[in-house]
Amino acid sequence: MSLVDAVVLVVDPERDSREALTSLLLRRGSRPVACSEGAAALELLNKEPVDIVVTELALEDMTALSFVAAVEERWPGLPTIVIAGGASVSDAVGALRAGAADFVEKPFDAEGVSYVLGKALTAVRSRAMRPPPPSSGARAGILGDSQAMQQAYATLQRAAQSSATVLVRGESGTGKELVARAIHESSPRASQPFVKIDCTAFPETLLDSELFGYERGAFTGAASRKPGRVELADKGTLFLDEIGELTLPLQAKLLRLLQDRKFERLGGTKTIDVDVRFVAATHRDLENMVERKQFRLDLFYRLNVVPLWLPPLRARREDIEPLAQHFCRTFASANGKYNVTLDASALRFFRSQRWPGNVRQLQNFVERLVVLAPGPVIREEDVKAELLQATFKTQTSMVESHLATELTGPPSTQAEPSAPESVAGTLEAALRAAEKRALERALRHCNGNRSQAARVLGVSRSTLYAKLMEHGLL
Ligand SMILES: Nc1ncnc2c1ncn2[C@@H]1O[C@H](COP(=O)(O)OP(=O)(O)OP(=O)(O)O)[C@@H](O)[C@H]1O
Ligand SMILES: [Mg+2]
Repeated sequence: MSLVDAVVLVVDPERDSREALTSLLLRRGSRPVACSEGAAALELLNKEPVDIVVTELALEDMTALSFVAAVEERWPGLPTIVIAGGASVSDAVGALRAGAADFVEKPFDAEGVSYVLGKALTAVRSRAMRPPPPSSGARAGILGDSQAMQQAYATLQRAAQSSATVLVRGESGTGKELVARAIHESSPRASQPFVKIDCTAFPETLLDSELFGYERGAFTGAASRKPGRVELADKGTLFLDEIGELTLPLQAKLLRLLQDRKFERLGGTKTIDVDVRFVAATHRDLENMVERKQFRLDLFYRLNVVPLWLPPLRARREDIEPLAQHFCRTFASANGKYNVTLDASALRFFRSQRWPGNVRQLQNFVERLVVLAPGPVIREEDVKAELLQATFKTQTSMVESHLATELTGPPSTQAEPSAPESVAGTLEAALRAAEKRALERALRHCNGNRSQAARVLGVSRSTLYAKLMEHGLL
């Protein structure tokens, strides 16, 4: 429960008690910053990373209650401690209800204050160390109120009540696994195991033994019996991820399991009955695979009892902002940067963008923004800069669209992202072409000044030179 190095914001209109507390904190190795008013304190929180706030109950410019509520709303997870004189202890209880972590009675002694602060900091730190809590609540951690997501969510809820097999489909990063888990957690099987098997994670023979298990001596190295994941999922849910990658022989075995809920372990003769609910997921076009005889039609029907489609993010742009907000809060608290927020301009920018990726890409992007944030407020410029940086390295087409807006004015607002089918040529060729255009635009924008262009593109001068050479632009 050490206070060493903790940045403590002290808010107290009275100079003497403010100084008493700051000097005590200095003696404990903390780094106190002080304000005499609530509004100034909120202002400061916007600029400086702070670990904990200690506020006097009797503020002059606002009530401590509204101050605590404002901190809680804008920087959830940032602990606030209220200091209250004897008569106002009942008000301190009100502050606790508004979100304060604790309160200290006046006059306080050094030990008491240090203890309360240390306790609040430890609670926050251990919260940050823990993985995020399992999704709970009405939406099982699934965000997004777009119509497309509401539909998906309604299907999820209905499916969860039954034991029917669900086939979750959507592009990579749209939340298929999240939904598969939510189906299990919202189902009567929630207290039973949820077992996942990723069909791309094992070569065929290993996948077979991972799924169905084996008896001792079934093959060289099978020293003892091992239950497969099907068995482990008994009474619970088995999540068959990337089902489109399953080989035809394994498709046949899986079909039997789905039909009869029976199987044998490798090398075994005993037939085992299981009570398993299946959820499968894929980003592949299974109907097309069926046509090309790569996927069994009978298995497809067995899996597709309840089809659940997850729309790509570009089809539900209104979800981008709440997702970005949510990821910002999650990563801010996971990294102990509790007061990092996206400001209105950043949120507006998120709303205005056509993100080419899905939720996973957005999540990774916001994580980088939070981790790299130099101060507590992430603004539009920071988002743009990170977008340039990220995309130059990975998805040059995004730089393209960004630079097009930045350097040559906004793109035609009518233009919709082209459908994947209409994109000709390989992805690599498209990326190369976009990279070349991005380089040309940056150079034009910087009037040929290469150092400046390198800065705009977020790369070193030597990388810029190498790229210019590569594209014959030198
Ligand atoms: N609607 C959502 N609300 C909140 N978080 C989401 C949502 N959709 C996806 N996520 C988060 O985005 C990340 C990617 O989701 P998930 O792994 O479920 O996608 P996926 O479709 O299985 O992707 P892939 O095809 O790449 O395996 C996860 O961290 C998940 O928690
Ligand atoms: Mg997945």
